[in-house]
Amino acid sequence: MKISILTLFPDMFTGFIETSIIKKARLKDLVELNIVDMRAFTEDKHNRVDDYPFGGGAGLVLMCQPVLDALKSVRTKDSKVILLSPQGPTLNQAMAYDLSEEKDLVLICGHYEGFDERIRDYIDMELSIGDYVLTGGEVAAMVVSDAIIRLVDGVITQESHEDDSFSNGLLEYPHYTRPRVYEGKEVPEVLLSGHHENIRQFRLEKSLEKTLMNRPDLLEGRDFTKEEQKIMEKLKK
Ligand code: ADE
Repeated sequence: MKISILTLFPDMFTGFIETSIIKKARLKDLVELNIVDMRAFTEDKHNRVDDYPFGGGAGLVLMCQPVLDALKSVRTKDSKVILLSPQGPTLNQAMAYDLSEEKDLVLICGHYEGFDERIRDYIDMELSIGDYVLTGGEVAAMVVSDAIIRLVDGVITQESHEDDSFSNGLLEYPHYTRPRVYEGKEVPEVLLSGHHENIRQFRLEKSLEKTLMNRPDLLEGRDFTKEEQKIMEKLKK
């Protein structure tokens, strides 16, 4: 998979692409990250990429020319072009799975007060990472590409993301590692038992409990299995 990220702040991505799983995915050629500086495309003699909004108002607006010329330089017939903006639908795990199947993604980071509305005519979709406003799309582009890259085949094991929160509609169960006792807090006995079925039941119960406490909205309309129904009845008591 190739991900091109169009930004005015390419330096922000240095740590992101050079660290941990994202770096490993690149080195294994599972993903290519192409950071494109939109300012390099401006035809303005003062190197400007933004201008005052017609009709007045606060702040500056990203101009069509540098953004769309940068887009033209990377777009192919396989590209899916995504504009990061708080006005898009909010990214979720199901969308991340779908996007991880794409061959060629282009993420455009907005900045300042916004961008010329006509840029929207050149994109395939808009995406937000949540109901708050960031100073720009860069952090959002990292969130979106991180969520997608870890799902690309071979980046992490299938097992590692099968039990992720949201993958099965529930929050993930708790994990423990050494030591068995830390400041008097013990690891649940069942996890030391080696009894796979009991461990599976414990984890399902903890998943349901955590989801009920923290994100009851995720349980609305869920098709509970018989086993889950029993656990839910117990939890609600
Ligand atoms: N740019 C500014 N805020 C954003 C958000 N919440 N999601 C995506 N891009 C953004």
